[in-house]
Amino acid sequence: MKVLVIGGGGREHALVWKISQSPRVRKIYCAPGNAGIAAQAECVDLSAEDVGGLLAFAQAEDVDLTVVGPEAPLAAGIVDVFEAAGLRIFGPGRAAARLEASKVFAKRVMQRYGIPTADGCVFDAPEAARKYVRQLSGPCVVKADGLAAGKGVIVADNYAEAEAAITDIMERKVFGAAGERLLVEERLYGAEASVMALTDGETVLPLLPAQDHKPVLDGDKGPNTGGMGAYAPAPAVTPALLRRIEAEILLPTVRGLAAEGIVYKGVLYAGLMLTPAGPRVLEFNVRFGDPETQPLLYLWAGDLIEAVEAVIDGELRGVKLAWHPGTAVCVVLAAAGYPGGYRKGDVINGLEDVPRDIAVFQAGTARKDGCLVTAGGRVLGVTARGADAREAVERVYAAVGGINFDGMHYRRDIGQKALGTLGTEDRDRM
Ligand code: AMP
Ligand code: GLY
Repeated sequence: MKVLVIGGGGREHALVWKISQSPRVRKIYCAPGNAGIAAQAECVDLSAEDVGGLLAFAQAEDVDLTVVGPEAPLAAGIVDVFEAAGLRIFGPGRAAARLEASKVFAKRVMQRYGIPTADGCVFDAPEAARKYVRQLSGPCVVKADGLAAGKGVIVADNYAEAEAAITDIMERKVFGAAGERLLVEERLYGAEASVMALTDGETVLPLLPAQDHKPVLDGDKGPNTGGMGAYAPAPAVTPALLRRIEAEILLPTVRGLAAEGIVYKGVLYAGLMLTPAGPRVLEFNVRFGDPETQPLLYLWAGDLIEAVEAVIDGELRGVKLAWHPGTAVCVVLAAAGYPGGYRKGDVINGLEDVPRDIAVFQAGTARKDGCLVTAGGRVLGVTARGADAREAVERVYAAVGGINFDGMHYRRDIGQKALGTLGTEDRDRM
């Protein structure tokens, strides 16, 4: 079959790499792809958000199956458009994608179906929001309602920070229309985990739990990024806790939406805080996480295409996922300046010496004058597997040591939390 993957980051490189191993796949296109993806797929010069262009391409090339990486085309309704044209596509429709595209919608769904999450209040005017946070007089979290490239959440320690966030979102409109409404919610404490599941709208099949590392610096310091690294499985989510997350969070969400006539098909990603009172949802995403997908697909032993087809056909019941043993860790190598304005065009060296059993998933890369150069904030995701977390961490950092480009920076503590070296703060709170 011919498969089209939409997107051009590290997540999509991992998807293309995994899909290329399926015996049923003859040809892979990726729009827009990147320099790494070009080795395994034919890159197509179309933006991931150009729904009309992507539809015309899929029809012209007789694409049998489309797999969507990022949230923007899902929120724009690409799945509805492709399905209306009779094409097979993996991901939730526009109505279901609101779980990620509107934090207010997600909060209301959670409130309706008793899904554990932080208490929150919705505002559509700054004055009322200010009055509310003044009364709270303690830490809180201010969230722009809409998509803000992962930057619309401000964890405020006090009134001054919360008030600045309200001004930025509602008056200075730093996230544009995403900030027309905002959510102020209770601040939660604990370790974070990412639990993704495949769902066909009825059956929910969790993948191994993963952990992302959002802040740019070691020890979870500095501003948030799209994710500086991830590993799976995350021991903080024990098998018993995973069952609880499935029963209390994932299933009620899918069933609640189904009761409202919204059939959720695709990946449902719960960003969780593991609080002393149990797991709480911080956010839902309606797609594979980036970078969590890189270690997850590196551990996935089965055929991804078979699972994707079972989701589309509503035949997930009875499907069992197979995993390689051990732990996988992905370390993101970022460009100078990231997550702020970053530099492009630095030559990337050392990839040819990376051992063959270590994957380098490319994100912001391009080819220039025959050289591989940086072209985005997150540049590479070096991914290794080990018999346990310690071995995976050792192997991934040994490989990272051989790669360089000007201004390259990365966290040196990815996977430490899996080694049982949680900070006392985290341990006390769990
Ligand atoms: P989100 O995009 O909603 O996942 O939020 C980004 C980050 O903000 C999360 O990974 C958490 O670290 C933090 N965060 C979000 N909501 C809360 C909350 N209610 N309490 C504490 N931290 C939060
Ligand atoms: N790693 C977080 C996300 O994909 O949103």
